[in-house]
Amino acid sequence: MKHLIAPSLLSADFGNLQRDIEMINQSKADWFHIDIMDGSFVPNLSIGFPVLKSIAKHATKPLDIHLMIQNPDLYIERFCVEAKADVLTVHYEACNHLHRSLQAIKKMNVKTGVSLNPHTSVSLLEDILCETDVVLLMSVNPGFGGQKFIEQTYKKIEQLKKMIINQNLNTLIEVDGGVDLSNYKQLINAGADVLVCGNAVFGSPDPVKTIEQLSTI
Ligand code: DX5
Ligand code: ZN
Repeated sequence: MKHLIAPSLLSADFGNLQRDIEMINQSKADWFHIDIMDGSFVPNLSIGFPVLKSIAKHATKPLDIHLMIQNPDLYIERFCVEAKADVLTVHYEACNHLHRSLQAIKKMNVKTGVSLNPHTSVSLLEDILCETDVVLLMSVNPGFGGQKFIEQTYKKIEQLKKMIINQNLNTLIEVDGGVDLSNYKQLINAGADVLVCGNAVFGSPDPVKTIEQLSTI
């Protein structure tokens, strides 16, 4: 499968959000990556349902919603219905009953995602991988855009890829944080299927061209 590019709207210009969404619509990007932060699971706040509804109204590509929040179960239905998630990702570290959370997402006919912080071992996913459509490996500590990529991530991708193949699954590996033109090829070679790019896209003088470069191997 050709890898997918998911620009992260966290780095968009929120004063010109519709313009930036249209730019992604017109580009070679595959998904919209949308970061939700609660000021508790991560030391930052981002956006809530009013803004999400506006994004859903204008975006013409799948919405990949990354929940960096405690107790995601409280909001799963709203993220699926009001925010129109196509992939809904919860953090392993934020769920006491991860299997139950994933079942709740599945019930809404939305793809399930599980994210791991840099310190969390992929081996912990052994018994939940078969319920997971996407594993989102954090390659920075979550909470902010524009941070430095953590090199240990390559090993995690390789280990996770082996687990997916051993279990004969189609789970996608998504990498989030510090992905740019200098490392995207190595990430794809290691086994990444989806690359989240915030600063690399929106900090570029020509975001459409950067997306095209990131899409090309
Ligand atoms: C960080 C978020 C990322 C962030 C990535 O907690 O999950 O999606 O927007 O931004 P860059 O690509 O700039 O590291
Ligand atoms: Zn993210």
